[in-house]
Amino acid sequence: MSAAAELVIQDLRKVFFPRTVNEVMALKDVSLRVAPGDFITIIGSNGSGKSTLLNTIAGTLPATSGTLILDGQDITKLSEHRRAKFIGRVFQDPRAGTAPSMSIQENMAMAYLRGRRRGLGPGVPRRIKSRMRERLAELDMGLEDRLTSQVNKLSGGQRQAMSLLMATVAEPRMLLLDEHTAALDPKVAATIMELTGKIVNDSHMTTMMVTHNMEIALQWGNRLIMMHAGRIILDLAKEQKALLTVPDLVNKFHEASGETLAIDSMLLE
Ligand SMILES: Nc1ncnc2c1ncn2[C@@H]1O[C@H](COP(=O)(O)OP(=O)(O)O)[C@@H](O)[C@H]1O
Ligand SMILES: [Mg+2]
Repeated sequence: MSAAAELVIQDLRKVFFPRTVNEVMALKDVSLRVAPGDFITIIGSNGSGKSTLLNTIAGTLPATSGTLILDGQDITKLSEHRRAKFIGRVFQDPRAGTAPSMSIQENMAMAYLRGRRRGLGPGVPRRIKSRMRERLAELDMGLEDRLTSQVNKLSGGQRQAMSLLMATVAEPRMLLLDEHTAALDPKVAATIMELTGKIVNDSHMTTMMVTHNMEIALQWGNRLIMMHAGRIILDLAKEQKALLTVPDLVNKFHEASGETLAIDSMLLE
């Protein structure tokens, strides 16, 4: 059992194509303390640096400068592979979180054994099998009776539900979600969001969730961050965000960014 992590982000900068005409500073010295058990929703206009922030935390992208301290350990230089032992992730594309040509049980077993030293021998241990059947049954999608089905036979919602389970069964200290319901139709997206809330609340994992949907950003989590042009321009605690409506949030964006266009397009979704 892993405890929820504290993440201290100090002056995190990410520059793409440095010293070229295409130079982009996607993160402009971002500093943030994520408290253990925080469930932060992150919104912001397209290209504001949300995915880059999650990618540098996960180690998919190296930071240009700045530091990332997880529970007192400097992880800035740690490989993505090493960080994956304590950071779980789910992406927008349901195909990204699962191995398509492998069966449901092979995928799940892989996820269970992540972060352990020994790999998967032939067959799945019975103890793990019964546990994974339980977890799949909780999804209420009938997947527990289809353990040997190939994952590429499943719907997008089923695959995203599995991606969530797989990202969290090894009890990572931190969970990063990047618009993980955006590719699903509204009803399925709502189911996946409910499942996300349940998993995060049950485990108290420290969670950062990027969403395009301001209602969801207000409704879920204990803290809301708004990004714009590589910076965090708003950081609201639970009590503050409880009082806000979507129009309030749009106004706050306009005040904080000095721009009127970028976020309005987010409302047209
Ligand atoms: N791998 C990359 N290579 C070059 N530029 C990138 C890369 N990833 C993101 N960017 C640029 O960095 C900026 C922030 O992008 P991103 O973090 O994806 O924004 P968001 O997720 O908020 O929409 C954008 O200008 C984008 O074009
Ligand atoms: Mg993004």
